[in-house]
Amino acid sequence: MEANFYIDQIKQELKDKIRGKAVMAVSGGQDSSLLSVLASEVLGNNLLCVFIDTGLIRKNERERVKNFFTLHGMNNKIVDASGIFMDRLKGVTDPEEKRKIIGGVFIELFQKEADLFGAEYLIQGTIAPDWIESGGQKRDTIKSHHNVGGLPADMKLKLVEPLRDFYKDEIREMSSAIGLPTDIQPFPGPGLAVRIIGEITKEKADLLREVTDIVEDKISNGMEISKRPWQYFAVLLPIRTTGVHGDRRAYGYTVAIRMIDTTDAMSGTFSKVPWDLLEDISTSITDHVPDINRVVYDITDKPPATIEWE
Ligand code: XMP
Repeated sequence: MEANFYIDQIKQELKDKIRGKAVMAVSGGQDSSLLSVLASEVLGNNLLCVFIDTGLIRKNERERVKNFFTLHGMNNKIVDASGIFMDRLKGVTDPEEKRKIIGGVFIELFQKEADLFGAEYLIQGTIAPDWIESGGQKRDTIKSHHNVGGLPADMKLKLVEPLRDFYKDEIREMSSAIGLPTDIQPFPGPGLAVRIIGEITKEKADLLREVTDIVEDKISNGMEISKRPWQYFAVLLPIRTTGVHGDRRAYGYTVAIRMIDTTDAMSGTFSKVPWDLLEDISTSITDHVPDINRVVYDITDKPPATIEWE
């Protein structure tokens, strides 16, 4: 892949399509980070990068993104919207409904920020798997990616998505070409919402945030970069099972650990990581998060499963 050729093409598309001001949805992931750097080179102060704290993000994510904005001197705004997301998701258990609600709230908030900033355009880092899996026309909807399936039909903002035809491995090549880190762990826009099976509560989000941090820490400190799975995370299941803590009965939650090897996220195989590492992760979770007393490992490839559980 000619990374620099495509980078120039992306910048040209931004120049051609955007007349005036734009807001950009930045999650701090690989795709939106790359695009925000390119967009801020093209648009300067006519760009406002917006990070939305959904309350379903990872530990330290907000600070990490804030530092990224500062490092690159970007015009930015961090919006604390955890209350709105929790409110709208109350009682919702269906995965597609969750995804659509989340997509809808994102757009509402971006519209509000765009109005305040005086922008007509919304830039998103949507990549090919996002819209391919979101379906439409002859394609079946596998899952509605938050940045595609949640868009309202009467959206006022003009959407600009210059990464639409690229895949994750190509995004990493372009990131490397401009000196950005290439090992950002993929994290879905709906965040922990699609990793909490069943109803989402703040208590469950806090539990899963803690477990996610343990899994990420064990992998990043326990494996060389070249040996790490492509993506690794935990899923909180809606079941409780019997266990024993010391000599007392426990009745706690179960988490599933998911680790995937892939190049483009369209298909993949579960990672065959060492048993010792899995044991270390499991022990660390049950030691540090007393509400969890069972840890299972997902040994399903994509297909037939998808990477995320919802
Ligand atoms: P699936 O679960 O579809 O995941 O096999 C493929 C890759 O996409 C990520 N993913 C998302 N990313 N918005 C995103 O930005 C979404 O709604 C979304 N759903 C899944 C997933 O983490 C994996 O890397």
